[in-house]
Amino acid sequence: MNTTVLPHILVESLESIGQSHLIEHALTLDAPVLAGFIEQLEGFDLAAIGEYINRYGKGYASAPPAASIEPARCYTLGDQTWDRAKYRGIGQQLIRDGKVACFTVAGGQGSRLGYDGPKGCFPTSCVQNKPLFQLFAESIRKSEEKYETRILWAIMTSPLNHAATISFFEDNGYFGLDAEQLMFFEQGVMPSFDLESGRLLLAEPGVLCTNPDGHGGAYRALKESGALDAMLSAGVEHLSYFQIDNPHAMILDPVFLGLHRSADDSSGEMSSKMVAKASWDEKVGVFCSIEGRTEIIEYSDLPEGLAKQTDDAGALAFNAGSIAIHAISLAFIEKIVSDPRYALPFHRAIKKVGSVDPVSGESCTPSEPNAIKLERFVFDGIKLAEQSIVVETDRVEEFAPVKNATGADSIESSKLLQTERGARWLTEAGVDVPRDDDGRVDAMIEISPLSAVEASDLALMDLPDSIAAGSTVVI
Ligand code: UD1
Repeated sequence: MNTTVLPHILVESLESIGQSHLIEHALTLDAPVLAGFIEQLEGFDLAAIGEYINRYGKGYASAPPAASIEPARCYTLGDQTWDRAKYRGIGQQLIRDGKVACFTVAGGQGSRLGYDGPKGCFPTSCVQNKPLFQLFAESIRKSEEKYETRILWAIMTSPLNHAATISFFEDNGYFGLDAEQLMFFEQGVMPSFDLESGRLLLAEPGVLCTNPDGHGGAYRALKESGALDAMLSAGVEHLSYFQIDNPHAMILDPVFLGLHRSADDSSGEMSSKMVAKASWDEKVGVFCSIEGRTEIIEYSDLPEGLAKQTDDAGALAFNAGSIAIHAISLAFIEKIVSDPRYALPFHRAIKKVGSVDPVSGESCTPSEPNAIKLERFVFDGIKLAEQSIVVETDRVEEFAPVKNATGADSIESSKLLQTERGARWLTEAGVDVPRDDDGRVDAMIEISPLSAVEASDLALMDLPDSIAAGSTVVI
């Protein structure tokens, strides 16, 4: 066979990991497509990919469950034994000193939402339909005003939505932020492979099928993009991490940041926030303690027996649901990316992936899931921290995710929560808010992040005495 169209070293690598079909395929390609194919192949660590195919492919054996899984210890809302004011002060000082940057993972597609575009562009606020990116940008502007500081914002995209995300910010004048305080960077991708044969699949002639490498790709992408070094140079020490899908994420929570940085049982590397689970089968990761280390077990991996287990009072024992908000130190990220001992595991998903035949070029559309996609999860970093703390927050205050087109975690449920939180904040500020007989707010209330990023910010504002029943209000 004529194998000369690929560099010799590439041929050897592909042969050694059982991917000779790609060597044959290369012979069918025109020069420009071939050049792109070589570049794509050379961009991967093929030896490592061969290992992943062996480990996560057809013969995959999941790790046996840990012998002992305990609920993780948390700083709960009701616990009065720790000094909230002290940690708030520490966190406020960190923010004021410019030692905290915001970091949003926004590499996923809004496919569950049925939205064709970056999820951050999805109209979300309950009256004005502001997109998620705008809500976070305005929260940053308000926080800059409150803390008299400048806040950097790193946003991780993926090749699926990078260009569209940047255009959206450009077209909207960066929502009032300076372009220089924003850092957009793309996460990496992983090639998808056939479940049965372990062969890497082709999306089109000369192009491998790939998928974003999961939000766990953030650690490496932060480093390789230069964002990590840029933040270190600017004096940043910690990231406030949140997902694009949660308009209620408190982008900078001084109490949480203060605990993360200074609590006795925190190594200041990676800390997390939780809410009490709504039901045993709510689709949130659960904080556990395994051999003395805090971990998140993803909802799909938590054995049903544990998910349903109750304590003496009848409450769910594994009650701490992850809202995917973390504080992460830059030093910890450096540690993870520079030492292979801290490499995060992959999680495998079996999906339907269409491809083209490497020889005939014909399209194949599978009727059943046929391929493995590998992703890393950011929260697998937690167990690599020396001591990682979990802090409870109130569900309405901080968790109104927009994930699905309808039902739980949809735009509809999010808007109800947005109104409920707005009503609570206004009530706390002395405004009379109408509620129906079931206690539901009888109005639509949107509080702009430019007005308030937490309830106490409203104390400084001129507010109406009351809200009329059935009205629509923007504060
Ligand atoms: C996620 C968490 C779950 C948590 C819940 C809280 C995972 C695997 N699970 O569930 O433990 O309780 O949120 O809402 O994350 N993303 C990327 N790149 C990727 C994949 C995802 O940036 O390659 C981003 C998405 O844009 C999104 C976030 O990660 O912001 C969440 O991803 P998704 O896969 O939707 O996780 P969930 O099932 O919602």
